[in-house]
Amino acid sequence: AHEDNTGSLKEQLAKVFELSLKVTVPDEPEVVPLIAPCSKKETGDYQCNNAMSLWSKIKGKGTEFRGPQPVGQAIMRNLPASDMIESCSVAGPGFINVKLSTKWIAKSIQKMLTDGIDTWAPKLLVKRAIVDFSSPNIAKEMHVGHLRSTIIGDTLARMLEYSKVDVLRRNHVGDWGTQFGMLIEYLFEKFPDGEVNDQDIGELEVFYKASKQRFDDDAEFKERAQQAVVSLQGGEEKYRKAWAQICEISRKGFEKVYQRLGVHLEEKGESFYNPYIPETLDLLKQKGLIEESEGAQVIFIEGKKIPLIVVKRDGGFNYASTDLAALWYRLNKEKADWIIYVTDVGQREHFEMFFTAAKRAGWIPTDENKYPKTSHVGFGLVLGDDGKRFRTRSTEVVKLVDLLDEAKTRCKAALVERGKAAEWTPEELEQTAEAVGYGAVKYADLKNNRLTNYTFNFDQMLNDKGNTAVYLLYAHARICSIIRKSGKDIEELKREGQIKLEKDEERKLGLHLLQFPEVVEEACTNLLPNVLCEYLYDLSEKFTSFYSECQVVGSAEEISRLLLCEATAVVMRKCFHILGITPVYKI
Ligand code: ARG
Repeated sequence: AHEDNTGSLKEQLAKVFELSLKVTVPDEPEVVPLIAPCSKKETGDYQCNNAMSLWSKIKGKGTEFRGPQPVGQAIMRNLPASDMIESCSVAGPGFINVKLSTKWIAKSIQKMLTDGIDTWAPKLLVKRAIVDFSSPNIAKEMHVGHLRSTIIGDTLARMLEYSKVDVLRRNHVGDWGTQFGMLIEYLFEKFPDGEVNDQDIGELEVFYKASKQRFDDDAEFKERAQQAVVSLQGGEEKYRKAWAQICEISRKGFEKVYQRLGVHLEEKGESFYNPYIPETLDLLKQKGLIEESEGAQVIFIEGKKIPLIVVKRDGGFNYASTDLAALWYRLNKEKADWIIYVTDVGQREHFEMFFTAAKRAGWIPTDENKYPKTSHVGFGLVLGDDGKRFRTRSTEVVKLVDLLDEAKTRCKAALVERGKAAEWTPEELEQTAEAVGYGAVKYADLKNNRLTNYTFNFDQMLNDKGNTAVYLLYAHARICSIIRKSGKDIEELKREGQIKLEKDEERKLGLHLLQFPEVVEEACTNLLPNVLCEYLYDLSEKFTSFYSECQVVGSAEEISRLLLCEATAVVMRKCFHILGITPVYKI
């Protein structure tokens, strides 16, 4: 049979089974192959689970089969000849267990080494996705919640980008709202001539607090602040200019964090969507979604006690009206088919409500398996060692830049302690400390299921044993050093050498490597970066078992094993890349 050897292992296997299903049950053309990894590894590598459901479908239709087991037998018998499969067996009520051909596994890895890991990118149904992440608020400190959003959002974007999705990375900054009235008025008070620069304002957060104080204490100031909002929203130049100045100072602060983390984002803040709100609300009115309630305009959502307010009693727009306009823009102007929002779980309700409104308006299908679709990626709190919301010594929120500094400083100290200051150039020391330190902060966040709260602990995340970035980065560097020290030219080996998976540990490692595409696919589909972290940790463990069982340098299988080392390093690096972690090559 002609084999289309592209797509994940699972997909390729599905294609083979599809051919058999067509022959076995020609009257059921809708049936799609159900392929899953075997739960018991002794029975096989993968299994096909179609027989049981197929049987219940056809038993009433005068089929020649006498139960699910014979259906399974027939599916197995009708499988076309395939390089992929070594053997099959039917178990229980009709599970078809497949043992993959070891030769085929070896050949597939070899092919990846020559063609590049990008040929392993999973194929997704989405063409263009928007990841709305980070999204801090102007004039307020970017807090650890925003750090989580930044780290998780960046990884989701990277996963989709690797899978050849066109990704628009959107920073939906809070740059529009009533808080600007008091900020602007306070700015006018402090700098009557309107000439300010960052140094003058100093810490924006302090500036914010001082203006809030004025707002709370002085009724006359409050009055002016409220008037300032109207002037700003009316587009008065003096106010627009002050607003732009405040935004610019904040932006520079945010940018520092993004630069450290190597995260790229494109800002389209709340203000950007403001002009689209009236027409968006008109569309929703035409559909009869908007009602008047206690002086406000609202959308009632089934099952929710409180409606979604889209125009406040004072006639102003809010967070929800902005999000509706942004969604309209993203669907119609940017033509995105998947829009992903990354915020703390506390905002779940808000997203549920406006997603429901969009469904009722017919903007997105109710069936969540259809596109275009929206997803809220919620995450839990960051906790301190005391189990409470993470804060620094003082009661202030943690400064993100300080956090990253500390991670780096600690890594550097550990490297110096291991004598690296004498061995490496100062740049090497600096770069490694940064890669490991920032990588550790990211990995500690990503490895948890994002919905759970996680405890921020430097000692844990910087441990060089266990499931940490430090351990994984070192594992990768060690593999690179095995290859380097062999003195062999790996490019030449790729062209001329051949992978053979003879020992059990070699086969296990090989099979795990080949599962990379389906793991990325799963992580993308469910928007769960921790799935990829688990895979990576598992990979390093499988490598360790292989390396302790199989001598590499100086053995008869040296070439094959060096290639297996190289393939492991390549896949690890792609994992690091997707997780936003910079690999290191020396330890
Ligand atoms: N600025 C918001 C916050 O800090 C997050 C915005 C998330 N994105 C959105 N489209 N609502 O909580």
